[in-house]
Amino acid sequence: MGKDVIIACDFASKEETLNFLDKFTGKKPFVKIGMELFYAEGPQIVKDLKARGHKIFLDLKLHDIPNTVKKSMAVLSRLDVDMTNLHAAGTISMMEGALEGLTRPDGTRPLLIAVTQLTSTDQERMEKDLLIKEPIDKVVMHYAHNAMAAGLDGVVCSPLEAGKVHETCGDKFLTVTPGVRFADGDIGDQKRVMTPAEAKKIGSDYIVVGRPITAAADPVAAYERCCTEFIG
Ligand code: C5P
Repeated sequence: MGKDVIIACDFASKEETLNFLDKFTGKKPFVKIGMELFYAEGPQIVKDLKARGHKIFLDLKLHDIPNTVKKSMAVLSRLDVDMTNLHAAGTISMMEGALEGLTRPDGTRPLLIAVTQLTSTDQERMEKDLLIKEPIDKVVMHYAHNAMAAGLDGVVCSPLEAGKVHETCGDKFLTVTPGVRFADGDIGDQKRVMTPAEAKKIGSDYIVVGRPITAAADPVAAYERCCTEFIG
């Protein structure tokens, strides 16, 4: 899989999701299913969107003991998702277990991406709530390194961190970056944003775009604009 735009389908129901996706009559976009939609509709939503021809990033951010994560990943892998994720904070051994669980009998598996520190966690919260005293950039790079050591394919990070992750972990290690906004768009609650063109320049491999597409007056045009700016 090469560079692509992933649409964050942050909808509360299958009905809303299909109403939105029905607007796309040409290319089938790569879509992200998060906890809200998955918990509302169950695994069937993954099967339904797969059957309609979409690639799926299942964003459930697993974090538990290695054995539980391994077994859960085996279930997700059977759903035939293309990409899924977990928290790097679960340790290298949990990430290794996840990879083992994800790998299908024929040796294929979905891409596995680690969340390093959530962008909602800042230096102060990390120090006070988690008792991690190192600078947050160092923690993010350390977690990215752990993910690479465990054999994962990449990390979810801010587009502003993507260049540094590639410097630390190499160009083949994928960066999946949310926080993307058009230059003339509303940034909403995202704090550190980049345009699709800037994300391309800095080397993001996948951009995850929600509201700039889902809330646009013309979502198909907004998606195509993202693809043109990011993929070319
Ligand atoms: O609507 P918007 O483009 O801000 O959506 C971004 C998507 O990426 C949402 O699904 C959000 O949960 C997700 N995300 C994020 N920042 C992270 C990790 C995930 O915005 N650090």
